[in-house]
Amino acid sequence: MRAALVLLWAAVAAMAMAMAMEGIPPHEEAARVARFVAHACDWAALATLSAQEPPMRGRPFANVFSMNANASLTMSLAQTPYCKKKGYDPQSPLCAHVIFSGLVEKVPDGAEADFAKTALFSRHPEMATWPPDHNWFFAKLNITNVWVLDYFGGIKTVTPEEYFNAVP
Ligand SMILES: *[C@@H]1O[C@H](CO)[C@@H](O)[C@H](O)[C@H]1NC(C)=O
Ligand SMILES: *[C@@H]1O[C@H](CO)[C@@H](O)[C@H](O)[C@H]1NC(C)=O
Repeated sequence: MRAALVLLWAAVAAMAMAMAMEGIPPHEEAARVARFVAHACDWAALATLSAQEPPMRGRPFANVFSMNANASLTMSLAQTPYCKKKGYDPQSPLCAHVIFSGLVEKVPDGAEADFAKTALFSRHPEMATWPPDHNWFFAKLNITNVWVLDYFGGIKTVTPEEYFNAVP
């Protein structure tokens, strides 16, 4: 009985997830799509130019250590069940993705860091127990450009203002 209940709960949760994913905003509303994708994703790929010693210095580098603050962050619905369910290849523009670029900045201690902490640990609870002797700090991407690829006909640009004002 208990197992059946658990299974049922899992099925309900999967259904809720699938239904939520059907809620992707219309592709014309690129700012809303960007918000939707950013919310649906738990991780992103960050690319920057390496600030490491040569030979890496100045070369594209998709990792967060020793980085130049100029960076871009990419996330795609390919990491959610949505694209598979719809039969969209991760390379298809219909498998919506969004690219943010801007400057990576350290989040100052205080209310903003508390907010960052709550937000990060809500998606990645294990990180709350990572050993503090690594001197972790919270960082944010101060967004200057947003690009959305969610349909045929090329990539769309969204201003940071449109992005932050959009109702996801
Ligand atoms: C980021 O890139 C811009 C444009 O290339 C440059 O002017 C600026 O110095 C860079 N900022 C940092 C912190 O590297
Ligand atoms: C982003 O950078 C600009 C320019 O340096 C600054 O005025 C603004 O306060 C920053 N935004 C955030 C959210 O930190």
